[in-house]
Amino acid sequence: MTLTVHEAGLDLADPRVYADDRRLHASLALLRRESPVHWVDAPAYNPFWAITRHEDVLEVERDHQVFLNAPRPLLATAEFDELNRRRAEQGIALRTLIHMDDPDHRVVRAVGADWFRPRAMRALRPRVRELAKRYVDRMVDLGGECDFAQEVAVHFPLYVILSLLGLPESDFGRMLKLTQELFGGDDAEFQRGTTNEEKLQVLLDFFAYFQELTEARRKEPTDDLASAIANARIDGEPLNDFDTASYYVIVATAGHDTTSATISGGLHALIEHPGQLERLREKPELMPLAVDEMIRWVTPVKEFMRTAAEDCELRGVTIRRGDAVLLSYPSANRDEDVFDDPFRFDVGRDPNKHLAFGFGVHYCLGAALARMEIRAFFEELLPRLSSIELAGTPQGTATTFVGGLKRLPIRYSLA
Ligand code: HEM
Repeated sequence: MTLTVHEAGLDLADPRVYADDRRLHASLALLRRESPVHWVDAPAYNPFWAITRHEDVLEVERDHQVFLNAPRPLLATAEFDELNRRRAEQGIALRTLIHMDDPDHRVVRAVGADWFRPRAMRALRPRVRELAKRYVDRMVDLGGECDFAQEVAVHFPLYVILSLLGLPESDFGRMLKLTQELFGGDDAEFQRGTTNEEKLQVLLDFFAYFQELTEARRKEPTDDLASAIANARIDGEPLNDFDTASYYVIVATAGHDTTSATISGGLHALIEHPGQLERLREKPELMPLAVDEMIRWVTPVKEFMRTAAEDCELRGVTIRRGDAVLLSYPSANRDEDVFDDPFRFDVGRDPNKHLAFGFGVHYCLGAALARMEIRAFFEELLPRLSSIELAGTPQGTATTFVGGLKRLPIRYSLA
């Protein structure tokens, strides 16, 4: 069956397509070639321009005065967009860094930024290594066979985030469930419910949990990111309750599924490309490049959106004020004009100008942390691994936002 450009565009608004790499990349390649700035008017969604070329994604991200994050920073159904709009009017909507533009964005981003700088990363490294070892040991305890995605990869990054925020390990179960419900919102397996009200309830539960945390850290500040957020002052005033809770939500959620999806997808890529696995074991100094190649390969964040503040032109196409554009990161990261043989998994790829962390003022705050976690995990795993293979069919998450493999059955022998 030949795919049309129209169908390829609609695929970008279909969560199921994101669980099927082959279909997704066939559609993206067609759009890059035939219609790189493409109008998508999909049932149940407000229309948007799909931006699929690397160069154009960069251009939009660079121009943050014209392309704003508010009011539609990511793809949701029209019904959910409307609900969010109403909640925003009532002052009870999620307002994280990705919902903000300057000047608010700059000052709010600065509140947490120190906790992601090299000094803080160095301080966190021993803990990250300890957790990586704990999870590789766990693979040994699982007896040579497991669902790597569910039994290993989802746990490790969440523990790292808990450490960064300064939260007790006993809160792990609650956070895991809430982040999966929030990010896997389109996937029937993780949904709490199907109505928008039920989806919003997940957010409200998050807020309630973090409200308690804020109160505790204001009463008794400790040396962690949670205290920095709870006690932040902007123009002498603390962040309001929703902005405070939203900060925790973005750190807890953005730092979790993204990294775990990359670790699962990275391991899958190594299993599928045994020559690359061997190369990396023989040359561990390639690890930093291999980590970035895994991030490019998986590209766990499928899209963010911007809204044009004025009429403008992109690749000869007029984009009107108020139009939304969707930045397709998986597409940019397979762009034939930028990557040599983009569908080849190459642990030594250099240069690797992937856009998996975005670009510009919203560039991923946790990029250094994510790289450190992925590196720590594979540096612990690879020297101890003597064999690994698939023990079933991997399964992807059906989501238009953040995802990757939700099941990765593997068989291995490990020291
Ligand atoms: C492989 C893992 C990760 C990927 C691929 C990823 C990707 C992204 C992307 C694409 C953006 C939006 C950038 C843009 O609009 O230009 C973003 C923003 C963000 N990420 Fe990550 N991320 C990852 C891990 C993390 C981690 C571990 C954390 C922290 C705990 C984190 C925290 C954030 C925050 C706070 C933002 C919002 C930044 C802003 O709007 O100013 N991310 N990330």
